[in-house]
Amino acid sequence: MTIHQPRTIELVEVAPRDGFQSISSPLPTADKIRVIQALIDAGLQRIEIGSFVSPKAVPQMADIGDIVAEFIGRKGLRLSALVPNLRGAELALAKGVRELVYVVSVSETHNSKNVRQSVSQSLDGLKAIADKVRESDPNGFLRLDLGTSFDCPYEGRIGWEQVANVLEQAIKVTGGLRLEVAFCDTTGRANPYQVKQTFRQIRQRIGGDAITWAFHGHNTFGMGVANALFAVQQGVTVLDASSAGLGGCPFAPGATGNTATEDLLFALNEGGVETGVDMARLLEAADLIAALPGGQTASSLRQVPRVRALA
Ligand code: COA
Ligand code: ZN
Repeated sequence: MTIHQPRTIELVEVAPRDGFQSISSPLPTADKIRVIQALIDAGLQRIEIGSFVSPKAVPQMADIGDIVAEFIGRKGLRLSALVPNLRGAELALAKGVRELVYVVSVSETHNSKNVRQSVSQSLDGLKAIADKVRESDPNGFLRLDLGTSFDCPYEGRIGWEQVANVLEQAIKVTGGLRLEVAFCDTTGRANPYQVKQTFRQIRQRIGGDAITWAFHGHNTFGMGVANALFAVQQGVTVLDASSAGLGGCPFAPGATGNTATEDLLFALNEGGVETGVDMARLLEAADLIAALPGGQTASSLRQVPRVRALA
């Protein structure tokens, strides 16, 4: 059995997308920009900055163009944006975003509630987006988020075979691109053993050495950090997290926020894994996030006296 112990992990900060979208009253653009700047100041080099979605579906993202304009082109910063369809991909590319995150839920019911399409229609959409990305760069990057890879709020537990089937079809249409694949625990119901099994079985079935593997976890059942670490042992090198644990997905009833970035950072720091993120500054950014009106946050590290958290 291979257990991976990487020296470095890439943290992708998703509070500006998964977190902000959960806040129903519109946040001022300037406040969002202040938070994102604080996250960058903490050393986060990968930020999922928001989504190019229908403003009717997610009104909080209506100012995504202005936010991208503020940060795009900064040296050393990898900005990504979630897109649910070709229209979103075109808008994101036109704004200079080079890392698109395309979301397909493995569960038919969740996919239909989230993006109003069948899984098969979403895979057609993926092909169209992959073609578009190739047009601008034949070796371009594409991140695929497989939502509800472990559990669906409507269909219950999702078996790894179902995830593998969707992924195999996705791989066929994304050939040539640098593909990053995230298995997403949208509801936060997965446990570490299921995470391990899913990554392991799928890696055995499809190989995927050319793919960068990622895990996107929510902390609803308190398993977020454990799930992420089990994923890392199966070869995952990219972990999504949301500072202060901001979140609670409007499309996954009952789910709480993503695993808090500071909680994950604590675990990785203790294991000597490098991320480039500074805990003191990250906690400052998390404090800013926790002060946003209307946000739900959950973080263990923020409850610990600061001097202990930083010792
Ligand atoms: N960006 C901006 N506007 C978009 C858009 C995009 N990517 N895609 C569609 N729209 C607009 C259309 O122009 C149309 O506007 P109009 O009513 O003013 O003419 C409206 O949105 C509806 O378009 P339609 O193609 O009929 O989409 P739909 O109503 O079937 O909704 C989605 C489908 C995917 C656009 C919508 O459900 C969505 O944006 N979902 C996002 C979900 C999400 O972010 N989930 C969290 C991530 S896991
Ligand atoms: Zn999520």
